[in-house]
Amino acid sequence: MKKHLVVVGSINMDLVVRTPRMPLPGETLLGSDFHTIPGGKGANQTVAVARQGAAVKMIGCVGNDDFGQAQWRCLNAEGIDLSLLQVDAQQATGIAVIMIDQNGQNSIIVSPGANSAVSVAQINAAKETIAQAAMLICQLEVPIESVIQAIELAHHCQTPTLLNPAPASRELPPALFEKVTYLILNETEAEILTGESVSDVMSAKTAAMRLRDAGAQTVILTLGAHGAVVAYDGELYHEPALSVKAVDTTAAGDTFVGCFAAAISEGLAVPDAVRLATHASAISVTKLGAQPSIPTRQEVEQFIAQRRD
Ligand code: RIB
Repeated sequence: MKKHLVVVGSINMDLVVRTPRMPLPGETLLGSDFHTIPGGKGANQTVAVARQGAAVKMIGCVGNDDFGQAQWRCLNAEGIDLSLLQVDAQQATGIAVIMIDQNGQNSIIVSPGANSAVSVAQINAAKETIAQAAMLICQLEVPIESVIQAIELAHHCQTPTLLNPAPASRELPPALFEKVTYLILNETEAEILTGESVSDVMSAKTAAMRLRDAGAQTVILTLGAHGAVVAYDGELYHEPALSVKAVDTTAAGDTFVGCFAAAISEGLAVPDAVRLATHASAISVTKLGAQPSIPTRQEVEQFIAQRRD
């Protein structure tokens, strides 16, 4: 039987408004179109894995409300195993308020709601699933103690772990990095974790090496339009970005994570998985919204073939 991947993470409904530019403090701006779109870093990464054709289970929590039911239907329609998802009747499903400017850049505020109910007990109840997984994937939109417990369980069972420390507003225990097989993060997250400025490929390489020295086996530092820096197995290199017209960068990082994880679980080497994930996230920025923008494997392969022509 095909081994599954397992994602511990958030499920949000994204409330998206397009705006000519970001408002200043105290300013009211007239935006344009408004959309209600399934999102949440955990759910987005799970969908990205599923659209690459890999079997995936999600551990998370929604509220007993319309947004929660809508998310459940969407994730179910992707063929994702939802047997470890919980409903918390006391809290609303998580939401994210997202503004997107005319360059496709976003600003996001998350109200976690039911995501904050993902407990250590829920993780412990999934111990067998984590032990048998091809990979455990976590981000930081659910309680940090649950993320730590999931990574520790996985490490104990020799299940490879992928941590995307986003949003990086939390202190991670230094000992956790030694239990992380793949650390995938962006410039802002790297700056918060290392305390050093990351402004170009050179400083990204320095930050990636520091995070590797902290214990993470493979570090991939994504740089948006400037590609990614990869530190693994004694190698340190820059993967260039693909030039595309950005409509909305929301979930580009989640697409990268999910596509990379699925590719590794298929047996691809790190550089090949990074290349595939770079193409997938380039596609995602050309479309509006989180989950609607995540490509299938077929779309990624067509895109790669087109760019070769
Ligand atoms: O990474 C993008 C996601 O961050 C959005 O879908 C939003 O829900 C927030 O979690």
